[in-house]
Amino acid sequence: MRLVLLGPPGAGKGTLAVSLKEKLNIAHISTGDILRDEIKNETPLGQEAKKYIENGELVPDTFVTRLIENRLSKGNNGLGFMLDGFPRTVHQAEDLDKILGKIKKPLDYALYLESTLPVIIERLSGRRVCRNCGRVFHVVNHPVNEKSPCCVLPDIYQRADDNEETIRKRMDVYMQSTKPIIDYYAQKGILFKLDSDKDTPELEDALLKRFNEDGKLH
Ligand code: AP5
Repeated sequence: MRLVLLGPPGAGKGTLAVSLKEKLNIAHISTGDILRDEIKNETPLGQEAKKYIENGELVPDTFVTRLIENRLSKGNNGLGFMLDGFPRTVHQAEDLDKILGKIKKPLDYALYLESTLPVIIERLSGRRVCRNCGRVFHVVNHPVNEKSPCCVLPDIYQRADDNEETIRKRMDVYMQSTKPIIDYYAQKGILFKLDSDKDTPELEDALLKRFNEDGKLH
């Protein structure tokens, strides 16, 4: 199964991907996570990407497309992959088609998580992340489990781009640059819309039902 996850910041792409990847035995490839690792490791790419990310802007297409091409060429993706946060511009979507065309592995679905601004602001301003394992929490919806040996409070942090001003900027960028991709995939007949204000198990059930009906589950 080859999927892309689309939707505004905070729609729940990462949360859904983490829960689906085990069930489908596919790789979860997040450009946001890859870029944050580059920043943490202070690589040249990380240093370049940091200023865009912290301003809520997109990192230039050429950087991220190269990252994805390299990652996909490594294989090691189980029964497929789920791209989270890529593509984010029509140009990236066209490049992805070219990359997948070369290896004759087209996308099965573009999953679009629809959400609303109040929900997005509530989710992102309450999001917390574990510095050790990357697990994502929410101060209300999914609090840190104090019994966990890994995710303990000194290592729980708030992302630098999760403040209200940057969230609004990310939403503007999303509306301008990323939203047009929805039509791009609708025209290809592979778009599947989900109401991301629902909880994650409900979203997952709707997806698995659809994959099953389409004969995509083995
Ligand atoms: P990225 O990390 O991809 O950020 P994003 O798209 O803004 O998405 P988020 O990670 O903020 O949200 P999400 O939808 O994954 O939500 P989550 O599951 O965490 O990118 C960051 C930056 O990197 C970009 O701004 C850009 O600069 C750069 N970048 C990345 N890719 C790029 C590309 N292709 N091109 C150029 N630049 C790129 O959930 C959010 C919160 O809500 C959590 O606290 C969670 O617990 C909670 N939650 C989730 N789902 C639910 C639910 N169903 N019910 C209740 N709570 C929920």
